[in-house]
Amino acid sequence: MKGKRILLGISGGIAAYKCCALVRLMVKAGAHVQVILTPDAAAFVSPLTLSVLTKNPVLSTFSNKDGVWNNHVDIALQTDLFIIAPATANTIGKMANGLCDNLLLATYLSAKCPVIFAPAMDLDMHEHPSVKQNIKQLISFGNHLIPAENGELASGLTGTGRMAEPETIMQHIANYFDGDKKLKGKQVLVTAGPTYEAIDPVRYIGNHSTGKMGLAIAHSFAAQGAEVVLICGPGVSQLSSSTHINRIDVTSALEMHKACIQHFKRADITIMSAAVADYRPAQSATQKIKKNGDILNLELVKNSDILQDLGTKKTSKQLLIGFALETQNELAHAKDKLKRKNLDMIVLNSLNDKGAGFGTDTNKVTFIFKSKKSKALPLMTKQEVAHELVLEAIKFLA
Ligand code: CTP
Repeated sequence: MKGKRILLGISGGIAAYKCCALVRLMVKAGAHVQVILTPDAAAFVSPLTLSVLTKNPVLSTFSNKDGVWNNHVDIALQTDLFIIAPATANTIGKMANGLCDNLLLATYLSAKCPVIFAPAMDLDMHEHPSVKQNIKQLISFGNHLIPAENGELASGLTGTGRMAEPETIMQHIANYFDGDKKLKGKQVLVTAGPTYEAIDPVRYIGNHSTGKMGLAIAHSFAAQGAEVVLICGPGVSQLSSSTHINRIDVTSALEMHKACIQHFKRADITIMSAAVADYRPAQSATQKIKKNGDILNLELVKNSDILQDLGTKKTSKQLLIGFALETQNELAHAKDKLKRKNLDMIVLNSLNDKGAGFGTDTNKVTFIFKSKKSKALPLMTKQEVAHELVLEAIKFLA
């Protein structure tokens, strides 16, 4: 963190008082800290205190008292990392919708550096669908969430809404600046889990994928400093929070396809581990289908192959890795998929191998490369397989 320029945006919530401790920790770690307050934040924490702690004037208006412009564009460009803590429901809502009626928001809209935000509000506000939607929206823009924590709130109620403690926020910042990480700054796209194809409002066609392999991959890449966009099908368990993982939840293959297209262009590395449904009902009934007669015929139409589509769009600088789950003629089928989908590598797992497949914590895979070489790995935990993938990606980028 030494010598890094950190911009701390404080919005108007009681958790603002914790920012004095946060600033102290950042300054102690050698960072150069600039504070921007929203107009309401000054009611919770004194600009003088923050100015003394940062040894910098605290900004909160578009011009100072001598009428000199506080240039939000310059402030944003001169920053390595922008932290917005506490991020109140109001500030989050405005950030999500491109509003900029104060200096903090205008600077946010101008920022090109990574942005981390730490929400803080009362539990019912935090649970409100609009706030949840806005937080999701911010994550989809590539901002990093430090989730609110559970505990006693200023209202006297207990629940989720407390801003993360300064030490936790520091941990996220330290992770971000860790220079030894081999994939620092690389953009990685990962898909995980199944897709559900709606038959009617209560039924779907799905599969047994749990997304464990995809979660392990996302974590392994994030641990090497990569910025991961993780597109998850339904039912994939919650992942522990990481500032390097932006999780996007989808349900159907069509939604997954759309999300992949949106994020693929920026991705240096793409790993498609999701078990995408190959077909979907031609029509999804709007009302629950009542039982009627002994036979029900469902007409299915083909989903487009997301991986194959990305294969047609990929440039020579992008690494594209697919998965193949086979039950017979494994190598031949996997090699065919590698070629057909224009991949750099395919990860073959066979349902015939003990310890491999859905829901297990282990996997037994063979990596098959474009060069036609292959590498059969022994039975490993999914974390170990994910780590092997990271090593292959590092080799490719080198
Ligand atoms: N895949 C995809 N979109 C689909 C189907 C599959 O992106 N509509 C991706 C999977 O994420 C995986 C790879 O393609 O990385 C292989 O999926 P698999 O189902 O094994 O292969 P298919 O091409 O669907 O072939 P088949 O079902 O005939 O085995």
